[in-house]
Amino acid sequence: MRRLRRTPALRRLVAETRLSVDDLVAPLFVADGLDEPRPIDSLPGVVQHTLDSLAAEVRRLAGLGVPGVLLFGLPLPAQKDAVGSQAYASDGIVQRGIEVVRQAVGESVVVMADCCLDEFTDHGHCGVVDPATGAVDNDATLPLYGEVARAQAAAGADVIAPSGMMDGQVGAIRAALDADGRVDTAVMAYAAKYASALYGPFREAVDVAIADGGDRRGYQQDGRNRREAIDEVALDIAEGADLVMVKPALTYLDVIADVRAAVSVPVAAYHVSGEYAMVCAAAERGWIDGPAVALEQVGAVKRAGADVIATYFAGQLAEALGG
Ligand code: PBG
Repeated sequence: MRRLRRTPALRRLVAETRLSVDDLVAPLFVADGLDEPRPIDSLPGVVQHTLDSLAAEVRRLAGLGVPGVLLFGLPLPAQKDAVGSQAYASDGIVQRGIEVVRQAVGESVVVMADCCLDEFTDHGHCGVVDPATGAVDNDATLPLYGEVARAQAAAGADVIAPSGMMDGQVGAIRAALDADGRVDTAVMAYAAKYASALYGPFREAVDVAIADGGDRRGYQQDGRNRREAIDEVALDIAEGADLVMVKPALTYLDVIADVRAAVSVPVAAYHVSGEYAMVCAAAERGWIDGPAVALEQVGAVKRAGADVIATYFAGQLAEALGG
C-alpha cells in the first residue's frame, strides 16, 4: 500500500474520491430593504445580500465554475405574517433574487430556491400553525408550498428545494408546477432532514426565531433514526423528487452512504451553517488549519456518496480546487 502513497502524483493517480468544483452548490441569502450587504456574525465571510451584491456574487461564483446556487430570502420584518405570504408573493424577495440572478448569469448557473415558510412567518415555523394545538398543520401547509413553488418557478428557478419536512410536500409541489405547465422545473427534496442543533447560525442569517422557544422536532427527523431516512427518501422519489438531500452532512454520513446505495437519483448533502461556523471559529483561534479542514470535511461528504454538496465553503473550495 505505502508504495502508492510515496509521491503526490502517485496519490493523485490512485485517489478514489475526487472532489471537484462541479460538486458544489453555494447557499446565498438575499434580504429585502438593505442598502448594502450585511455580514452575519456567526457565518464569517457570508452575508445577507442586496439584489445588486447577489448578482455580483453569483457572477463571481460562475467565474469560479460553481455550477449551482441555493437561494434563501429575508422579507422586511414587518411583512412577516402567520402564513408567510411573502414566500409566494410574485414580488417577494426570493422571486426578485431569482430574476436578478437569471439576468446576471443566464443558464450558466443552476438556480435552486429553498421552498419553505419559516423565513416569512411571524412565528418562525416552517408551516402554518394550528391555533388549537399550537402544532404545525401539515396538510394546511401543503397548498402554500405549492404556491411558493409556482412563484419561484415563474421567476425562473431551475430547481425547487422544499425544506419544511411536511409529509406529501414533494407531491403537492410537483402537482402545482405541472398544473402551471412547469414540467421542466425540477424538485430537490430535503428528504432526510434532521432536527439538528447545527442550524443555529443559519437562523441568525435569516433572522428566524421560533415562537415560544419552540423547535422543529415535530416535523424534522430524529437524529437517532437511520433506517427511517430510506423511507423518507423513497416516498419523496415516488412523489416525483428529482434529487434527494440529506442534511446536515457530517453527523449523518452513514445516512448519506445508505441513501446513495439505495437510490439511483442524484444525492445531495447540505454541509450546514453550524458545520461551517465550527471550522471558522476554531481556525480563527489558530487551533486548526481552516482551509485544510474544510477540504477534509467536504471531501468526506463526497466520499460518503454525495453527488451534490451545498456548502458555505463553495466559493473558497472552488478557488482552492481551481475551476
Ligand atoms: C428551513 C431551513 C433551515 C436550513 C435550511 N432550510 C433551517 C431550519 O430547518 O431550521 C438550515 C441550513 C443551515 O443551517 O445551513 N427553511
